[in-house]
Amino acid sequence: MRLIAPSVLSADFGHLADELEMISRSEADWLHVDVMDGTFVPNISFGFPLMKPFKQYCTKPLDVHLMIVHPEKYVERFCDAGAYSVGFHLEAVEDPLPILDLIKAKGVRTCLTINPDIAPERLVPYLDKVDMVLLMSVFAGFGGQRFIPETIDKVRYIRAEIDRRGLDTLIEIDGGVNTGNAHALFEAGADVLVAGSAVFGTKDPIAAIHQMKFME
Ligand code: DX5
Ligand code: ZN
Repeated sequence: MRLIAPSVLSADFGHLADELEMISRSEADWLHVDVMDGTFVPNISFGFPLMKPFKQYCTKPLDVHLMIVHPEKYVERFCDAGAYSVGFHLEAVEDPLPILDLIKAKGVRTCLTINPDIAPERLVPYLDKVDMVLLMSVFAGFGGQRFIPETIDKVRYIRAEIDRRGLDTLIEIDGGVNTGNAHALFEAGADVLVAGSAVFGTKDPIAAIHQMKFME
């Protein structure tokens, strides 16, 4: 699969409705929603109140990426707020399984995420228990960082493991994705690419989305 999920974190919040309508018209597949708590990551983004305008002005499914401690306290509220997918960090919790169950019980898709300093082997026991894994290609916390090239090998490793076991778990990549590395990521076996500054920071976001999605 080759899906593009623009990260609304990089949008112009002064013109949020316009930005969301632009994404709705584009070939983007999902809207990526970065929630930061200032504790798990050294930055605070936004919380529940913005789920409403995201839903109202964006026709794309909302892909919620929780960069927070104690995701178990909040996942159900994000599900109720209209998330299509809810993901949290493996390294933020002791046991992800009961939290995945909370999300599944709401009929929402699940995602487990790891930062670049967490071995991808740690995701392997969960590959058949989630709809998607998210490999961070920068350290979670800020948009506009430089892509970590070693991510490509991690994608190949997880892809091989998913294919060997005949699973349909998706692989998402988040951080520093742009028109220069999107093709290589898809070729390595990624299914979903998150892009913040490479979409909202360009003159022609619609074209950037098209390029990342269809570039050969
Ligand atoms: C980083 C967030 C990313 C970020 C991506 O903590 O999880 O989703 O917004 O932004 P870019 O594409 O600019 O690296
Ligand atoms: Zn993200």
